[in-house]
Amino acid sequence: MPEQFAPQSVLVTGGAGFIGSNFIHSFISRNPGCRVVNLDILTYAGNLENLKGVEENPDYRFVRGDIGDAGLVSRLLAEFRIDAVVHFAAESHVDRSITGPEIFVRTNVLGTQVLLEESRRHWQAGVVPAFRFLQVSTDEVYGSLGDTGFFTEETPLAANSPYSASKAGADLLVRAYYETFGMPTLNTRCSNNYGPYHFPEKLIPLMISNIIGRRPLPVYGDGLNVRDWLHVKDHSIAIETVLKGGKPGQVFNIGGNNEWKNIDIVNLVCDLLDGKLGRQPGENRKLITFVKDRPGHDRRYAIDASKMRRELGWEPSYTFEKGIAETIDWYLANQEWVEHVTSGGYREYYEKQYGER
Ligand code: NAD
Ligand code: DAU
Repeated sequence: MPEQFAPQSVLVTGGAGFIGSNFIHSFISRNPGCRVVNLDILTYAGNLENLKGVEENPDYRFVRGDIGDAGLVSRLLAEFRIDAVVHFAAESHVDRSITGPEIFVRTNVLGTQVLLEESRRHWQAGVVPAFRFLQVSTDEVYGSLGDTGFFTEETPLAANSPYSASKAGADLLVRAYYETFGMPTLNTRCSNNYGPYHFPEKLIPLMISNIIGRRPLPVYGDGLNVRDWLHVKDHSIAIETVLKGGKPGQVFNIGGNNEWKNIDIVNLVCDLLDGKLGRQPGENRKLITFVKDRPGHDRRYAIDASKMRRELGWEPSYTFEKGIAETIDWYLANQEWVEHVTSGGYREYYEKQYGER
């Protein structure tokens, strides 16, 4: 195993979102004594209710702010003697990038550049003995696959949506900061995540919440597009593993080797929820509605994560069977959370905890 980096004070960006909040829960419980500063502007996707349970932890601090605010980022890096940045903050939904690409470039490209530049100044000032910048990215930067083959770390970037193009732009800036300045950067690229706190605009939580409410289940195109699903807790541990053991300047693909056609996932969720909700077998499938396809809809993603296994000894621990059943149970047990995020009611939680916005 490579030599381990031991962070003492981590700046997590976008820690109130789906993966960021799961990462903070996981990281804080596995690294007692390591400070975690969560910088999140709280867009529609940022929800502090995702962080209940860690807010009282003395190692944890929340700061509401923009990754594109150079003064704020610089102050946080210095004040908390940050020695690792784990960068999740982004606009993350492909459909929104088609109807409004501008904010994707502003947050994902320009915001990342500000974080990189302030990190470079902080790292070069030498106030911390070691430093890492980890860019959390996506398999979508590689474009789309045919029926066979996998994305490896050497696959050329060929992003197709404004979302994935903005992530690819950020990944190239991360590479540039390593190549040009020697800054110790790391870049992970992961497949589709699922699990708790997933915003119900994305396929799996949208289907669960629409089935519960007996609403139509919109399946894009012919439903035969393929995604490679990984439980968010496995992703969280993978990121921690790369942060501590990954060689700076490198890219690490993360995935669950778990390909599903969209329609098969939707059918599975329908059938599991027939049982859990006491409905007739086949009842939920009647809600499926094929709708117009997403423009530029990538056909298939599949990640070759063998470098993670070979170099860092990481493997997913969840089977999909266990993960999806647990996820459905989580949504059934947390319908108040779903109601809050769909109604925007979760914003009241911020005001109660932190005062007026
Ligand atoms: P999300 O949309 O659930 O959360 C994004 C978070 O970033 C929110 O809390 C939001 O408030 C915050 N944010 C947005 N703009 C900000 C800004 N300017 N300053 C500070 N905070 C800001 O996203 P997610 O699904 O958790 O994805 C997190 C990261 O992981 C993204 O970078 C995404 O590209 C990447 N990723 C996601 C998946 C997936 O399946 N969801 C897979 C691979 C990679
Ligand atoms: O691959 C990693 C990416 O996974 C991340 O980088 C993105 O941030 C994340 O949003 C996700 O992107 P996708 O576009 O794959 O996820 P989404 O849940 O939007 O869609 C999954 C598949 O389901 C996709 O083929 C489109 C389809 N779909 C989606 C929705 C929301 C439908 O058929 N119906 C729907 O209503």
